[in-house]
Amino acid sequence: MSAAVTVTGVNKTFASKKQTTIALEAVDLEVAAGEFVSLIGPSGCGKSTLLRLIADLDAPTSGTVQVFGKSAKQARLDQDYGIAFQQAGLLPWRTVRENIELPLQLHRVAASARRARGDELLALIGLGEFGDRYPDQLSGGMQQRVAIARALAESPKLLLMDEPFGALDEMTRERMQTELARICADTGAAVVFVTHSIPEAVFLSDRVVVMSPRPGRIREIVPITLGGAQERTEGLREDAAFFAGVSAVREALHGGTPTALGVDNR
Ligand SMILES: Nc1ncnc2c1ncn2[C@@H]1O[C@H](COP(=O)(O)OP(=O)(O)OP(=O)(O)O)[C@@H](O)[C@H]1O
Ligand SMILES: [Mg+2]
Repeated sequence: MSAAVTVTGVNKTFASKKQTTIALEAVDLEVAAGEFVSLIGPSGCGKSTLLRLIADLDAPTSGTVQVFGKSAKQARLDQDYGIAFQQAGLLPWRTVRENIELPLQLHRVAASARRARGDELLALIGLGEFGDRYPDQLSGGMQQRVAIARALAESPKLLLMDEPFGALDEMTRERMQTELARICADTGAAVVFVTHSIPEAVFLSDRVVVMSPRPGRIREIVPITLGGAQERTEGLREDAAFFAGVSAVREALHGGTPTALGVDNR
């Protein structure tokens, strides 16, 4: 079975008349089917750029990106993944339900099946009462949850998420993390997940990719040995192994011994 994502020797440079920014340099990363990988690192280290390359929203300057063994472009055309980015990106003229059901509608899923899936997803994100509202009638966090539901609509085998929980309060955020872990356990979806939160990355991930800026590089990949997605439940947050994971990622972010540079120490 091919990997969910294979990034090989990727460089990405943004050039304008005034300056050239090396957003990514020599990035290699493989995300296995069903694996949860987080990207973490200071602002400007290229996390969103890397995710955008995987989603084929932009192209690498050099190197290749494959998704399930296909080119990033083909995977986009085949709609092999769901996307939830920081800005919810909802269509303002469609209700919450219509936004969530949009991917199903595009794929001509029958109205009754669409409705049933819409109900399921509305319940999942705790917005059962809000299906007929419009996005601008919701708070930022609620809009974000709608975007997540839309990404999950077709139970994709890959989810690309850029700080999807950034706008949520801490309680909702933890609940969404637990829900996401449950969804991954149920569907076996692989996830590439950008976050600024160390505990969030540790709670959810099989591996945490720690990046450093200027140029954006992978500094270290920290394996998290807390078990599969089905093990990621509330109690884990009090577990010694969870705190050990948080410390390991924090050290990689702040220190990062020279010998660990770019080394996947699984
Ligand atoms: N379209 C663009 N044109 C020019 N420069 C860009 C563009 N997109 C990103 N960059 C630059 O590339 C670098 C990486 O940006 P990116 O958005 O990937 O960072 P990030 O890690 O997601 O940061 P944050 O945590 O703040 O979201 C930054 O220096 C940014 O200014
Ligand atoms: Mg970003």
